[in-house]
Amino acid sequence: MSNRTFTMIKPDAMKNGHAGAILDRIIKEGFRIVALKQTKLSAEKAGEFYAVHKARPFYGELVDFMSSGIIIAAILEKADAVASFRKLIGATNPAQADEGTIRKLYATSLGENAIHGSDSDENAAIEGSFFFSGLEQF
Ligand code: RTP
Ligand code: MG
Repeated sequence: MSNRTFTMIKPDAMKNGHAGAILDRIIKEGFRIVALKQTKLSAEKAGEFYAVHKARPFYGELVDFMSSGIIIAAILEKADAVASFRKLIGATNPAQADEGTIRKLYATSLGENAIHGSDSDENAAIEGSFFFSGLEQF
């Protein structure tokens, strides 16, 4: 069990004006911000980030969506960060997400679901270093 996870506020939530509310919620839930930046993924970088889903039918749509606009990327710290954060964001499909979760509150659809959360300690470390150098983590 590691104490770090990685997140992105996805282009739909950015465009719909939910970034401030989402960051406020994350902080209020006790996550400490280790690193934070606003950026935009190229299609190539989005494809690399989600390469694990390359063979899935939704991969092309996912890459197009994730490179369609600005995102906020962050590394977060809390005890049992990965599981605790996945609980806070809710199920992948917002229609199945628990009440009060970030996806229930702010996601638009299964494909455009407002926020990313790492699914394992190993991936949290890989994803964090995809966006941030050691000098950008505090
Ligand atoms: P994420 O990686 O973004 O945190 O999402 P997740 O773990 O909850 O879901 P995952 O299975 O890793 O899928 C990655 C993202 O692909 C999109 N997706 N679309 N149209 C579809 O059937 C479909 N299934 C997944 C979602 O944006 C999902 O978050
Ligand atoms: Mg995932």
